[in-house]
Amino acid sequence: MDIPAETRAQAARLRDQINHHNYRYYVLDDPEVPDAEYDRLFRELQTLEENYPALVIPASPTQRVGAEPLAAFGEVQHAVPMLSLGNAFSNDEVCDFGRRVSERLETGDVEFAAEPKLDGLAISLLYESGVLVRAATRGDGVTGENVTQNVRTIRSVPLHLVGDDYPRLLEVRGEVYMPKAGFEAMNQRQREAGEKVFANPRNAAAGSLRQLDSRITATRPLAMYCYGVGLVEGGELPDRHSAILQRLKSWGLRVCPDVATVNGVAGCLDYYQKISERRSSLPYDIDGVVFKVDRLNQQRILGFVSRAPRWAIAQKFPAQEALTTLLAIDVQVGRTGALTPVARLAPVEVGGVTVTNATLHNQDEIDRMDLRVGDTVVVYRAGDVIPKVASVVVSRRPPNTHTFHMPEQCPQCDSDVQRSEGGVILRCSGGLYCPAQRKEAIKHFASRRAMDIEGLGDKLVEQLVDADMIHDPADLYSLNVDALAGLERMAEKSAENLLAALQTSKSTTLARFLFALGIRDVGETTAQTLAKHYGRLDALLHADIDSLQEVPDVGPVVAESVVTFFRQPHNLDIIQKLRDVGLHWPNVEVVSPEQQPLSGKIVVLTGSLTRLTRSEAKEQLQKLGAKVTGSVSKKTDLVIAGESAGSKREKAERLGIKIMSEDELLALLEIDV
Ligand code: IVH
Repeated sequence: MDIPAETRAQAARLRDQINHHNYRYYVLDDPEVPDAEYDRLFRELQTLEENYPALVIPASPTQRVGAEPLAAFGEVQHAVPMLSLGNAFSNDEVCDFGRRVSERLETGDVEFAAEPKLDGLAISLLYESGVLVRAATRGDGVTGENVTQNVRTIRSVPLHLVGDDYPRLLEVRGEVYMPKAGFEAMNQRQREAGEKVFANPRNAAAGSLRQLDSRITATRPLAMYCYGVGLVEGGELPDRHSAILQRLKSWGLRVCPDVATVNGVAGCLDYYQKISERRSSLPYDIDGVVFKVDRLNQQRILGFVSRAPRWAIAQKFPAQEALTTLLAIDVQVGRTGALTPVARLAPVEVGGVTVTNATLHNQDEIDRMDLRVGDTVVVYRAGDVIPKVASVVVSRRPPNTHTFHMPEQCPQCDSDVQRSEGGVILRCSGGLYCPAQRKEAIKHFASRRAMDIEGLGDKLVEQLVDADMIHDPADLYSLNVDALAGLERMAEKSAENLLAALQTSKSTTLARFLFALGIRDVGETTAQTLAKHYGRLDALLHADIDSLQEVPDVGPVVAESVVTFFRQPHNLDIIQKLRDVGLHWPNVEVVSPEQQPLSGKIVVLTGSLTRLTRSEAKEQLQKLGAKVTGSVSKKTDLVIAGESAGSKREKAERLGIKIMSEDELLALLEIDV
């Protein structure tokens, strides 16, 4: 098919524009247009390419979705070997390096390029006339693997260089890595999908890049920073490393924004210190910093030893991973009663910090690693992130270990454990009684919409619980001025006011009291409904699941929570204590179902009402025992048709269902018209 010249030109323009915006976004971190405009350009190019497939070129920005899986990666010979770096583990070793450099160069005045040592994997990119033609891993430094299809899916790697002053052949080197945020999000997705989670961003980057199916790589949040060049033909580069990096940037290649040039060893040590302090807040993982003699002529004088340059060194951070023994798995109870397994570890130094605990997330995570007490485990720490158990060294497992199972009783209070939120979260049902949940429960109990105890703020509740002065809400009522006066920042007057507020709160309503108990899934409205339905607390205490489900708007989940709560002896004890200290409320008048005019009737509201809102009408109807549903069917008993009621009214007429006007409804509800 002939492609009109104008269409060809338009595709080229779009490619240039998209490349330009990629450059602004990824390299300069300074986008020029909103995302929506970028998306529009991208879609326009996609549409052109769909209509004229011959327009598709490998360097088109649309060609990043991955390709058919490979059987194996091909081999790539590096024309210029990819070297490694010597390591320094202390300031002294960096000083030694500086001394060697100065001696060979016969000058004490050396400038260094200082760069974060990115924790990913080294990649070589080959550009021919500005087009990315090959990407390879480092391999053994001489022979690497061809990962072109995978690297093409990384958005921050330009498929075509920007400008026109790049060498005809340019090999760029850098690190492919996974930003911390992307790593956390990806692991979260993997965990939810029940798939493999990665121990750290480096493993995640390596695992993602070494996929034979590049379509998988395309879904992983990889990025790349360039830190040097290899083969260069048909063009000149600047004579300083730092200037080369700037030049790479101008061609659309991403360079880490935290690179710097420093003077002498003192400048190097200062840089190491500054980066160490920023390490945990950097958006990418690093395992140290790299110092490179900046002038290329000095680099040439220094040359190489075996497989590392004499002109560069990596100053490494203390290890972020360590081996240790899993001594026990404890179960912690959080504020909302959620149970989390925690690994107790033989103390081990990880990244300069002694680690004795690590989070294990949940039972699934433990099962996936087949973690057992007594195992030798790899502990990992990234920045200030909570330490994690990354994996188990199964070959070092002692005999007679046992698999671990989350408890069925709360380790803090022995109450039953319930599974919630899709079965992933285990929760203690102890509520008020469980010490771990006590503070939150008491705060809730005292809150405005519950018992409304004025002057009893969150801070004070925490103080009281920490001082062991209260264990449950009932204890609040045995506080006295003397005890309160001993607390920090508590004047006598405020103590008296608080005691008065406590006294006032004793006279309450059943609904408030039920809400104050903090029963899971029982909010203010449900508490009111329950109060109305049962009238007396004792009736509710003895209600079973079936009876509860007869209450309007109470489904199996709420019914289960209510029954479980009242089945816990501790909760019953606390309720009794509260009654004993004088909490009281009037019984609510209960209308038996038989007495209710709309008991068990299915009612549909349609059209617009003028005197009541939909939800008011619904609530009123429910009070009369009706079940209010959304659509008219043979089962419907009554349709309330407001103004301009349409198809539902017609359907009701067809089915011969009783129809009521708004006025008739108001009369039924005994509301004056
Ligand atoms: S320069 C001849 N610069 O560290 C110099 N390497 O042990 C070669 N790395 O395989 C490397 N960040 O994967 C250099 N800013 C940086 C780096 C860096 C990370 C990695 C790279 C290399 C290894 C060297």
